[in-house]
Order: sequence, then C-alpha cells, then structure tokens
Amino acid sequence: MPATYAVLHAVLSELRGLPIRSLLDLGAGPGTAAWAVSSLFADLERVTLVELDSRFTEIGNRLHPPGPVDWRAADLRVTPRLEPHDLVVCSYLLGELEDGVASRLLRAAWESAGEALVAIEPGTPRGFARIRVLRDELIALGAHLAEPCPHAAACPMREPDGCHFAQRLERTSLHRRAKSGTLGYEDESYSYVAVTRRPMDRALSRILRHPIQRPGHAVAALHSGGAGKEGRSAEGEGRLPPGPEGALG
Ligand SMILES: C[S@@+](CC[C@H](N)C(=O)[O-])C[C@H]1O[C@@H](n2cnc3c(N)ncnc32)[C@H](O)[C@@H]1O
Repeated sequence: MPATYAVLHAVLSELRGLPIRSLLDLGAGPGTAAWAVSSLFADLERVTLVELDSRFTEIGNRLHPPGPVDWRAADLRVTPRLEPHDLVVCSYLLGELEDGVASRLLRAAWESAGEALVAIEPGTPRGFARIRVLRDELIALGAHLAEPCPHAAACPMREPDGCHFAQRLERTSLHRRAKSGTLGYEDESYSYVAVTRRPMDRALSRILRHPIQRPGHAVAALHSGGAGKEGRSAEGEGRLPPGPEGALG
C-alpha cells in the first residue's frame, strides 16, 4: 500500500486544479486512493470504494479511512451501473482483467466520470501495453488527455521502449522488514493515463529518459507529439532552442 499510495499521490497531484468533490475507486484494495485523494482535494465529500475481496475491505476499515466511505462489494467483471462521481480511479486493476472486460469497464468508468478518470498500471512492458490501449480507447470516447502525454496523437513508443515513471518513497524499518529489503527507500515503477472532460493545460513536451549532462549544457530526448521522438539541446538555464535538433529514431 505505501508504494501505490505514493504513486497515486504523485499522479493525482497533477489534477489538483480540478473541482473534485466525489471519488469512485474501482478495485479499491484497502482504500489507497481515498487516502491520496483526501490529502489533495480539500472539497472531497463523497467516496465510493468498489472491492470484490472482503479481506481488503476489512483491512481498509481497520486503517480508519479518511472521512465517511461507502464500500461496495461487487465483481467489476460484471460491469455494474456506475454512479456519477467527479473522479474515477482504476489503480492496478484493469491489468488484472481480460482485455474485453477491461474495455467494457473502462467505458462505464468514463461515462460515470464527471471531471476526470485515472488509470494506473505497473511500469512494466505489459503494464505500459495495457495503458497504451486504454489511452487509445479513452481518446476514441472523446476524453481529453491530461497526463502524461503532451499530445493526443498516436503513441510513438514501441517495444522495447515503454513510457513509465518511478516514484521514490521512504521505507520505515517495519516496511523494510515486511519486504525483506535493506534499502531505506524504494522506487515504484508505474505507467498511467489521466483524462478529463474538459481540456487542461498540458506540458508542451515530455523529457524521455534521463538527460545527458555535458559541460555547460544538457541533452534531452523530448517527446512533443508528431510521429517520432525529437532531440533538442537544453543550454544554460535549461532554455530550449526553437526547433528539434535531430531525430533520435
Ligand atoms: C493490485 S490491487 C490494487 C488495489 C488499489 N487499487 C491500489 O492501488 O492500492 C487490485 C485490486 O482490485 C481488486 N479486484 C480485482 N478484480 C476485481 C473485480 N473483478 N471486481 C472488483 N475488484 C477486483 C482486487 O481484489 C484488489 O483489491
């Protein structure tokens, strides 16, 4: 839970400007998204958590979720009618479902999302492949891409490349013991897509991979839309020259 909480917090903080008063979390587990959303959206009034496995619900209740939450026991493979909520979250859920089932659920989730929908999967080739499909499906449904892509054109990432991010979180000693780890932190890798009902301001470009640092300047591979990946040099304080320097392939 600490790792998925850290990821949810990072992803959802990008939507902080939206008027989110209600949350619908599908495949809620112990209620991770409720914790992240309540820490980011002060006007949150209503939380609905849909979870099939009662053991997660029990753990979630023992953690004393923030504010009143409405747990619903339902199997999301049989797509229920989802009530309207401002924000709908599918965090590490859709990758567990068959493709057709996930698509049906995604459609229902989008129909119930008044402001935004977020889908998160592990930052693995399989997780990213699922996110890429979801992204295409959401665009076809008329959703506006908010994050992480700077455009709504076809995704140019192809195997072995995948669009994934890493969220670092501190490990407590208990956390280290539970995971049999020695490091005081862990990096959780994830892929995601966030869409909104209304267009949001988006970054013009995304930096792909770590920039190469050279004396006096840095070289970054940028993705700004269009068919390919573009390379541009950033110099001095990081200002970018006006055009792409050359295709990186
Ligand atoms: C990997 S966990 C993620 C939990 C939480 N969303 C998070 O990010 O921390 C996936 C959750 O989806 C639930 N789930 C899987 N299939 C489901 C289904 N068909 N209907 C309802 N919940 C389901 C599982 O029980 C589990 O709690």
